[in-house]
Amino acid sequence: MAKQRVAVLISGRGSNMASLIDAAGDDGYPAEIALVVSNRPDAAGLERARSQGIKTAVIDHTQYGKDREAFERALQDMLSAYRIDLVCLAGFMRLLTTWFVGQWQGRMLNIHPALLPAFKGLHTHERALAAGVKTHGATVHFVSPEMDSGPIIARAEVPVLADDTPETLAARVLEAEHRIYPQALRQVAEERARS
Ligand code: GAR
Repeated sequence: MAKQRVAVLISGRGSNMASLIDAAGDDGYPAEIALVVSNRPDAAGLERARSQGIKTAVIDHTQYGKDREAFERALQDMLSAYRIDLVCLAGFMRLLTTWFVGQWQGRMLNIHPALLPAFKGLHTHERALAAGVKTHGATVHFVSPEMDSGPIIARAEVPVLADDTPETLAARVLEAEHRIYPQALRQVAEERARS
C-alpha cells in the first residue's frame, strides 16, 4: 500500500511533530510527513522540520484578521496542492471551523495533554494538579467540531507524584505523547482506527 501523505500542523516548539518525523523515517512506517504547516512564522518547529529535510509552509493567521474561514481556505488549498491524505495537529493552537473539520472528518488527528474526556482546553497540567488526580496523561483523538471531543484513538497514563510541579508533570506527559502519537498515526494510516 502506498504511504499516506501527512501534513503536521504546528504553532510552536514542534516536539510531537519531531516524533512523527522520526517514526516516519522508518521504511516500514505507513505514512510520510509530506508537509509541516505553521500558523506562526516564528514557530521553532519550522526550523526543526527543515533541518530534517521536510517541506514547510507558513500560513500566518494574523494576515486574515477575524476571517477564520479565509485562513482555513488558504490552508485547505495548501493541503490539496500537496495531495495530503491525513492531517495531524501537533500543538496547533487555533480553533477550527465546522467547515474545515468537515473537510477532514476521519482524517484529522489531534494530541491533547490530558486523559480525555478529563481536562479539555488549556493549562491541563495545572488543572490536574489542582484537582488532585493521581493519574494524568495524554490522548490522541480524531478531530470533531467540538473541541477535544472526537473519537479516541490512543491514551497513555502517567502517575502524578506528590512533589510534581506543572513543569515536571508536563515533561512526563510529553514523553508519553511522543510515544503514542506515532502509534496512533500508524493505526489510522493502516486503517485500523476509524472515527
Ligand atoms: C503538547 O503538549 C500538546 O499536547 C499540546 O501542546 C504541546 C505542544 O508541544 N497541545 C495542546 O494543548 C492542544 N490544545 P509540541 O509543540 O512540542 O508538540
